[in-house]
Amino acid sequence: MDRNLAINLVRVTEAAALGAAKHMGRGDKIAADQAGVDGMRKMFDTINIEGLVVIGEGEMDEAPMLYIGEIVGAGGLKVDIAVDPVEGTNSVAKGLPNSIAVVAMAPRGCLLNAPDMYMDKIAVGPKAAGRVQLDAPIMENLRATADALNKSISDLTVTMLDRPRHERIVEECRKAGARIKLFKDGDVAAALATCFEDTGVDIMLGIGGAPEGVIAAAALKCLGGGFQGKLVASNEEEATRCIKMGIDVNKILYMEDLVRGNEVYFAATGISDGELLKGVVFTGNNSAKTHSVVMRSETGTIRFVETLHKLNKKPKYAY
Ligand code: FBP
Repeated sequence: MDRNLAINLVRVTEAAALGAAKHMGRGDKIAADQAGVDGMRKMFDTINIEGLVVIGEGEMDEAPMLYIGEIVGAGGLKVDIAVDPVEGTNSVAKGLPNSIAVVAMAPRGCLLNAPDMYMDKIAVGPKAAGRVQLDAPIMENLRATADALNKSISDLTVTMLDRPRHERIVEECRKAGARIKLFKDGDVAAALATCFEDTGVDIMLGIGGAPEGVIAAAALKCLGGGFQGKLVASNEEEATRCIKMGIDVNKILYMEDLVRGNEVYFAATGISDGELLKGVVFTGNNSAKTHSVVMRSETGTIRFVETLHKLNKKPKYAY
């Protein structure tokens, strides 16, 4: 894939973030999501790809745009696209931190078409990659991560979604003496945080969305981190769906199962402030500033991009 496509992906996440950020704290998550989708969709139309959306805003009959199976782009190279125009819709609607706009792209057939269900996940940074195992006891994974980082378990920070289903994990982490950082929404950003020492986050555990799992795996592949997931079927219907899609719910999905090969691109732009990316700042005079990260697995280059947008010069996007 042309490496310059990575920069175009930043344009796509910037457009989604600029659209969604207008709705921050206004209590309307549907409007925030729609604005993110619209921004992303229009920007995709300017890129020379034939992108097949394998993870998107739902099925064709339930989503007007960026649905699974939709083709985006102006035509050209055949690629798989995974999108979450607003990862953390509640956070945007409530004016809470940690929401981002994200896109992952890989050659056609390389991203897992994850069903919209839950996934049990473990994510660690590069030093602990290959040392943890999703089905190992929590204590063992904490010990392995602490050893890899050359710190004691009491200095380790474990992060997970603040959900009642994680009570057992919280209890086990406390028993082990680890520090815990809960967050309300946005486990893609949390998985990413494990790869950046400055965030202070060492390991992410727990159950979140499966599509978000594939997107996080794409990012961690670029960063050299470790990610494993296991689909969690909440009912018979979901279990049957997995069988139909040829996915074994009892199987641990490793990096190669989630994101095949070494040609994945990932971009994210902050909507509201997070550990890694600042949210959109409207700076007056029809201008706004965005903070993004873009990376490619092939070279491992990580670019942080701060962009000043002159919104009145882009009327087509109507942010
Ligand atoms: P949305 O942006 O789709 O609302 O997802 C936010 C999120 O927190 C994800 O980051 C996470 O994977 C999922 O929701 C967890 O689902 P649930 O809120 O049902 O626990």
